[in-house]
Amino acid sequence: MIVGTVQRSDTFDAKKAIESAHQSIQIWAETPAPQRGTIIYRAFELLRSRQAEFAKTITEEEGKSLADALGEVHRSMNIMEYAAGEGRRMFGQTTPSELPHTLAYTTRRPLGVVSIITPWNFPLAIPAWKIAPALICGNTIVFKPATSTPISGINLVSLFEEAGLPPGVLNIVTGPGSSIGDTLVTHPMVRGISFTGSTDTGSRLYSMGAGTLKKVQCEMGGKNAIIVLSDADIEKALTSVVSGAFGSTGQRCTATSRLIVEETIYDNFISALIDKTKKLRIGYGLLPGIDIGPASSEEQLEQILRYIELGKAEGATLTYGGNRITGPGFDEGFYVEPTIFTGVTTNMSIAQEEIFGPVLTCFKVKDYAEAIAICNNVQFGLSSSIYTRDLSKAFSYVNQIETGMLHINAPTLGGEVHLPFGGTKASGVGTREQGTEAINFFSEITTVYVDYAG
Ligand code: UN1
Repeated sequence: MIVGTVQRSDTFDAKKAIESAHQSIQIWAETPAPQRGTIIYRAFELLRSRQAEFAKTITEEEGKSLADALGEVHRSMNIMEYAAGEGRRMFGQTTPSELPHTLAYTTRRPLGVVSIITPWNFPLAIPAWKIAPALICGNTIVFKPATSTPISGINLVSLFEEAGLPPGVLNIVTGPGSSIGDTLVTHPMVRGISFTGSTDTGSRLYSMGAGTLKKVQCEMGGKNAIIVLSDADIEKALTSVVSGAFGSTGQRCTATSRLIVEETIYDNFISALIDKTKKLRIGYGLLPGIDIGPASSEEQLEQILRYIELGKAEGATLTYGGNRITGPGFDEGFYVEPTIFTGVTTNMSIAQEEIFGPVLTCFKVKDYAEAIAICNNVQFGLSSSIYTRDLSKAFSYVNQIETGMLHINAPTLGGEVHLPFGGTKASGVGTREQGTEAINFFSEITTVYVDYAG
């Protein structure tokens, strides 16, 4: 189904967009931050009044269920509301000086032009959580939405335009990364890059940005695990595993792709998990009651099916699912069954690589210590979660786990917009997104010393 047609921007367009952003630096930087906040708040109010329409577009473009799309719209609203409020904060520090009659403090300046490059899986929320903090800090922007989901990006930009953002402050280019990506990360007028996407692209972009000494923030892959200990609230843990592994068709960087269960409860847990997974309703996201939509593209479906084959070939046991779904109602999309592998060992590709689909790999462990070792035994470090009632184990876990975000008795998913979002190791480099960390990324700190003696 064709949901829209957009311009295929090329390098010429990318350069023009960067120049346009560059020309608007002064007008936006000199707009007082609370006034910038008023414009962002107006865009938030416009989004609030168009929630249903924006959510429908997300489902049509990306494929996720309408309920998930509405959740994404709410998240976008939250970040815009939060960023607007930062216009009256964006605190610096005031400290005593070593010298008499001297005032020492810090203040913030924008970076200038920033490039924002976003993926297809959250076509509205990820752009919103980069653009709103970048704007409040006074930066001007060139924004490249994912090639397969540009319309939600265009919709977002139009909200800011309608809210009164001066022309040239926020520019959008809808071209493929292969043709315009390099311009956006190497152009000398660009001072900062915020990217979300694959670890391969992120690490390439990180080194390209370093070549011209730009500030770079990359939010990349995950291989997030849920640990379930024998004293856990089992019902609660099951609900989290199902929503984390299969919700949004597993196409989110905080998805649960590994399950680590203590051996005393393992067999019962897996059979209850299969029962719960069977109840999921798969189908076209705009139909009522659908839990899981299709994979977002044919390419994505192929990647998921390739990993399922690899899992079987490497000796894991395919315990549930594993097939493409076809037939009436499914022929027009890239549907795949929620899939559960048991008997997984840490050396397998399905235990190490990000599949970005509804595929869960399960590990049976003898105790807490082995669970921690398996949880950390991946190149990624985005999110993780533990289910236990043992406070001592729960808080030891906080110190022992290498992920940037962790949850105790809650799913691996998501996060709140006023707290930092991001990971360690191959999951993230640069300052974290969201919360005040986003303000730190999108501003330069100036340290000021004033000698007022004379
Ligand atoms: C979420 O899990 O709620 O690309 C958001 C991603 C992440 C965003 C996830 N950057 O999936």
